[in-house]
Amino acid sequence: MAHLWRGVIEEYRDRLPVTDATPVITLGEGGTPLVRSGWLSGIVRGDVWLKVEGDNPTGSFKDRGMTVAISIAAGEGAKAVVCASTGNTSASMAAYAASAGLTPIVLVPHGKISAGKMAQAVMHGAEVIQVNGNFDDCLTMSRGLAEHYPVALVNSVNPMRLQGQKTAAFEIVDALAATPDLHVLPVGNAGNISAYWLGFKEYAEAGVATKTPTLWGFQAEGAAPIVNGAPVLHPETIASAIRIGNPASWHLAVAARDESGGRIAAVSDAQILQAQRDLASRDGVFVEPASAAGVAGLLAAAARGEVEPDQLISVTVTGHGLKDTETALSGIDSIIDSVIEVDVDAAAAAAGLA
Ligand code: F0G
Repeated sequence: MAHLWRGVIEEYRDRLPVTDATPVITLGEGGTPLVRSGWLSGIVRGDVWLKVEGDNPTGSFKDRGMTVAISIAAGEGAKAVVCASTGNTSASMAAYAASAGLTPIVLVPHGKISAGKMAQAVMHGAEVIQVNGNFDDCLTMSRGLAEHYPVALVNSVNPMRLQGQKTAAFEIVDALAATPDLHVLPVGNAGNISAYWLGFKEYAEAGVATKTPTLWGFQAEGAAPIVNGAPVLHPETIASAIRIGNPASWHLAVAARDESGGRIAAVSDAQILQAQRDLASRDGVFVEPASAAGVAGLLAAAARGEVEPDQLISVTVTGHGLKDTETALSGIDSIIDSVIEVDVDAAAAAAGLA
């Protein structure tokens, strides 16, 4: 039977803080694929599923939170919305604001946003302000703007964002008809791990799920404040989306880690890039570097013998690989394998068929 996915507000309306009066601003987000990873399942001797969040309308999981935050802001009569971003939040906010007829204002670290993400914000009509500072500085500024000027803040410090993002946990349990033993994901500003914990707990409390999973979050080594237990003043990583030194949802993330009996650990840029390449070449799932941090962390733990066998494991890959082709290709020696004349035999020779 045909079924049109209606976006996360309509699909999970009874679990979201909306009323009949709330205008629903949706681009059809959510309902993303859960793809079984054969090679990862083999390595951890379990059953590993990828939650492919790059398949959301603007190419990342941010759309789940943005549909709720922008709908609420529009319902409250906001005229403009603001966020700090490493690129995905701003792309998402700009798209949903455009749909709602609101003015999007974006604060980003100067020169640190991938071209694809910048193009999204620009095309959706955002006022893009480049700041000579890092993400953490931008977040401080957007909080200041929202406090002193008529503009609504839609970073994940806005609780509506986490409410929307928790629907990914619902979808995993719904699709598997089971609760994973372990859920793995990247951590940057730490909103998403907090949102997943909200969702998994809510389903368990409602009796929809039989239990809650253990949560494993992974930061990039050069931007691992939660792992270090102290803010990182100058965060550095090739995974620009999680280049964050002082996460806004730090305490919620630590609570999610501890209540679930989980861990938040660090992975190197080299491990992230390797995991990104493996996902693309073995599963056919092209994700951006930050999105591969969870897989990198799971592989590192498996190599140390720390992954119990026979587990049901879900891993969120957070954003699409097309967001940042420059970084993806930077590690590849030559992107042009061969240049030939118009000739079938030459093609066969070049392809190694002859
Ligand atoms: N993966 C991607 C692709 C992201 O864009 C982000 C965060 C994360 C993971 C981490 O999620 O912050 O909830 O822990 N990006 C934000 C942004 C900071 O501005 O787009 P988190």
